Amino acid sequence: MESNPLFKTLSFIADFYDRCKFGCEGVEGYRKSTDMRKCIHFILELEKSGFLDNRRTSFLDLGCADGRVNVMMSYMVRKSIGIEIDPDILSEYAPMKEKLTLQLQEAGLIPPPENISVFQGSSLEEQTYRQVFEKTGVSFQEIDFFYTYITLHDLFGELIAEKAKPGALYMVYGFSKVLPRYEGLERVLSDVGSQGIAALYRKK
Ligand SMILES: C[S@@+](CC[C@H](N)C(=O)[O-])C[C@H]1O[C@@H](n2cnc3c(N)ncnc32)[C@H](O)[C@@H]1O
Repeated sequence: MESNPLFKTLSFIADFYDRCKFGCEGVEGYRKSTDMRKCIHFILELEKSGFLDNRRTSFLDLGCADGRVNVMMSYMVRKSIGIEIDPDILSEYAPMKEKLTLQLQEAGLIPPPENISVFQGSSLEEQTYRQVFEKTGVSFQEIDFFYTYITLHDLFGELIAEKAKPGALYMVYGFSKVLPRYEGLERVLSDVGSQGIAALYRKK
């Protein structure tokens, strides 16, 4: 893993975001942050196995919060798209990415590619995808790889089973041992990156 030319950059990004991890539940909703160290393992395995390709993959984090997974994924995909329902949380994306980019440049590392687009809205509503299409040219049916950290994973599973293209991938973070099942999707990896926390599904 360490031999990957991006490893130093990805490690720097993981440390940057993992310094401010969130973990809260309450009346305002549910917010937890993906462990970015684990994320390095995911994306390197997914890239090696051909599930991610920076020439063609369109990625969508269905509840992206401050866009940290989008930033990490941006190196491995063609388009890295995020949707977040809470405008306050989403407003953290741009200043954090700007700060990170400066620090990466100062450290002589690779800044994130200009392929990230984040949107405020609900991932369950069609009008959000109209906005995404207008800005990125990517429709829901063209998304290759969906991601969620537990949030609404069952509803998103239904949406993908109903509307995504056959073969579209769905990665769910936050489960180990007892893994959810989604009608219309098959499980292709039970433990992505051997981190005991995420599984990968594919629309049949
Ligand atoms: C558990 S956090 C995960 C954040 C980020 N994906 C990560 O892994 O670090 C889930 C996020 O989904 C957002 N969310 C909840 N319902 C949503 C919806 N219908 N559409 C878009 N975002 C939603 C929450 O506000 C929260 O920020």
